[in-house]
Amino acid sequence: MPLIALLGLQWGDEGKGKICDILSEGADIIVRHIGGNNAGHTVVINDRKLVLRIIPAGILRPGKLCLLGGGMVVDLNRFYEEIEFLRSLGYEVSPNNLKISPRIHVITPIQKELERRIEDVLGNGAIGTTMRGIGPTYADKALRVGIRIGDLLDSDLERRLKVVCDIHKIENIDVSEVADTLKSHIGWLEPFVEEPASIIRSNLNTANILLEGAHGSLLDLEWGTYPFVTSSNTTVGGVVTSLGIDPRCISKTIGVFKAYQTRVGNGPFPTEQSGEVVEYLRKRGNEYGSTTGRPRRCGWLDLSLLRFAAKINSVDYLVVTKVDVLSGLSRYYISDKYVLNGSELKEIEPYNMHIGNVVPNYMEFQGFNLEKTSNLEWKDLDKGVLKYIEYIEKEVGTEVIGVSLGTTRSSYVSKFSVWEHS
Ligand code: IMP
Ligand code: MG
Repeated sequence: MPLIALLGLQWGDEGKGKICDILSEGADIIVRHIGGNNAGHTVVINDRKLVLRIIPAGILRPGKLCLLGGGMVVDLNRFYEEIEFLRSLGYEVSPNNLKISPRIHVITPIQKELERRIEDVLGNGAIGTTMRGIGPTYADKALRVGIRIGDLLDSDLERRLKVVCDIHKIENIDVSEVADTLKSHIGWLEPFVEEPASIIRSNLNTANILLEGAHGSLLDLEWGTYPFVTSSNTTVGGVVTSLGIDPRCISKTIGVFKAYQTRVGNGPFPTEQSGEVVEYLRKRGNEYGSTTGRPRRCGWLDLSLLRFAAKINSVDYLVVTKVDVLSGLSRYYISDKYVLNGSELKEIEPYNMHIGNVVPNYMEFQGFNLEKTSNLEWKDLDKGVLKYIEYIEKEVGTEVIGVSLGTTRSSYVSKFSVWEHS
């Protein structure tokens, strides 16, 4: 049975939450594998906007099993709040439909304090993180002093937390209070704890499995615009590491990108715009961070980076979102290549030392006006949108199988069901 990996191809906020919600209709198991509550996956159901940060969007469909893989880092207070929030809206969230890996590292006030200090010291060169303690939690994992969910029962927990504080010279945190808070979660948490790797392996032949990526490929710790990245592997390799699955199990990889480009936080952004264009895109696309509320930086679609992201993830199909945001512009632009020191460059790695110096080459397109954006079939797509899609397919060399024209479920147009083509 198919196992489909859904991944973001830009700097996050590609609209993966909505696409995951759509695809999860045909899935039995939905898995999140990296990051924590630095992510914000937005889904709109019956005019109600929901932002999920930890639990996969699949939880919004009854009868599905959702899994949180070991590559994640989780703030248990926020996890509990998210469960309660979903329950308050009438969604079932129980050990019957949600399991969490005991290998997940927990975020504590120590890592949040450390993040404040790091960003402070970096000053003007700050990453502009979401300040959720994500990076320092992954760092403590690598230092081998982190606390996993499976460690919460350890009678030595307080001493271990003290070690973390001592290493980072943090004196203003009461470790016994941190230990007590962590332990206070054991009661409700324990029934949810079960290793997803075994569940996935034993269901591979009988279940449709969807992996919900978080963040975006250009934020990958290894392959992104380092150091302006998140602290996990957002590209396809992260799936395999987090979930302990055979890479050959991944039937199809779907890359999601937005019709233009956005970024929250600092770091290079070759096609970034200013002035009216940004105001237009930000307003129409509601480009404010769903986690931090920060206004997102906006610019034109960058094919040099999109080609790289499609390649690094071995993307089989593309899905493009927020095409409706371009509607109404008399002209819009796409950068098809860069110019660097007088030479043309079709593709560039985000970590390339010249990424800050490239000059985008813009192709100009005539705008389109979308009259209808919901309940459409592929053949009904606006001619301007079809032209846009053909151009992307030719330039990236990958088929586009889905187009999102708005926030609601009915504004998604699918070329075919990926579950039937895998
Ligand atoms: P961190 O993930 O909080 O460490 O932040 C590192 C960088 O990644 C910052 O620029 C964040 O704004 C960015 N970032 C992390 N997660 C997301 C996301 O889900 N969407 C967009 N940007 C993100
Ligand atoms: Mg987001």
